[in-house]
Amino acid sequence: GKGAYDHYMLKEINTQPTALKQTIEGRLDVEDATVDIEDFDRGTFSEFDRVQFVACGTSYHAALYGSKLLDDVGVDSTAYRANEYDTNTGPACPDTLVVAVTQSGETADTLKAMRYAEADGATTLAVTNVVGSTAAREADHSMFIRAGPEIGVAATKTFSSQVVSLALLSRQFAMDFPDASPRADFDELAEALARLPSDVETVLDQSNARTIANRYVNDDAFFFIGRDLGFPVAKEGALKFKEITYQHAEGFTSGRLKHGPLALVTPSTPLFAIVTGRHNEKTLTNAKEAKSRGAPIVLVTDDPDAHSDLADVGLEVPSTHPLLEGLLANVQLQLLAYHAADQLGRSIDKPRNLAKSVTVE
Ligand code: F6R
Repeated sequence: GKGAYDHYMLKEINTQPTALKQTIEGRLDVEDATVDIEDFDRGTFSEFDRVQFVACGTSYHAALYGSKLLDDVGVDSTAYRANEYDTNTGPACPDTLVVAVTQSGETADTLKAMRYAEADGATTLAVTNVVGSTAAREADHSMFIRAGPEIGVAATKTFSSQVVSLALLSRQFAMDFPDASPRADFDELAEALARLPSDVETVLDQSNARTIANRYVNDDAFFFIGRDLGFPVAKEGALKFKEITYQHAEGFTSGRLKHGPLALVTPSTPLFAIVTGRHNEKTLTNAKEAKSRGAPIVLVTDDPDAHSDLADVGLEVPSTHPLLEGLLANVQLQLLAYHAADQLGRSIDKPRNLAKSVTVE
């Protein structure tokens, strides 16, 4: 049940430290900086040249995040929205590993993309929360994210556990893929992964997201911008916000703001800028452009003091490895969406028109 929480969503946000511990448990050796994922012996993925991710909604944002983690170890990868996979890519081929990211393992669009890839001779891997789901049964390989059951329609802890699963997989791929060039030093990432549950705990304990949600909730529209790993976080922040508050929200790469959306920016359109990890200079420049049009600027950052001239207010996160700070930013945005929806009295666990798994194409 929900226990002491008003909603499953809030419970699921708050139990992310435990969910993440389960995701990592027994799979990460910090001392040796290696991973050991059940069923994947060293070399399991040694015949592949590239990865294609297929996923929908929140899982697509996790796939975008994962694709950037693979970039970092020199593995060629692209994330596709599963519903557009067949029209956006040529046929997959035997040297392509197609990774379906799907919490439920039952999303029709994702299953269809997997089957399409399989028909082309690709090998498939399902990254899913549900053992025995269709995706897990049909894929050549599976990795379970072990987040525990998620009841709220809005995906929260499964996003975090998917991203961490993909971070672990990035290490497996770096060791297996013949063309990988492990640029990244996994030692530091491994340590940061091990610390992540307690960093999330810190965010949960100290978050001011409720105050910020209450301040802006009745404004006209909500923009979320970020670059690099901040981009999937901006997309996910906007998706979560719109689906449970029913307020208009959009997330895009920072640089897109000036090519159209800026026309909508007013003192009643708060801008949430993800300034975590790396490559933040342009995001800060773009946030300044919005500020000069009067938009309130909320910076999600590990260093609020550095930007006190720009930000009206900050959503702070602990400093950690640049590849993982985005995950902490995302927890702040989950809380923001939750408290905004709560303030508006929305049906948080069952938003209108949405179902937990979408089993039609
Ligand atoms: C958003 C949400 C949806 C799902 C999407 C894919 O909060 O829950 O966008 O992420 O329908 O679902 P799965 O991961 O089950 O394939």
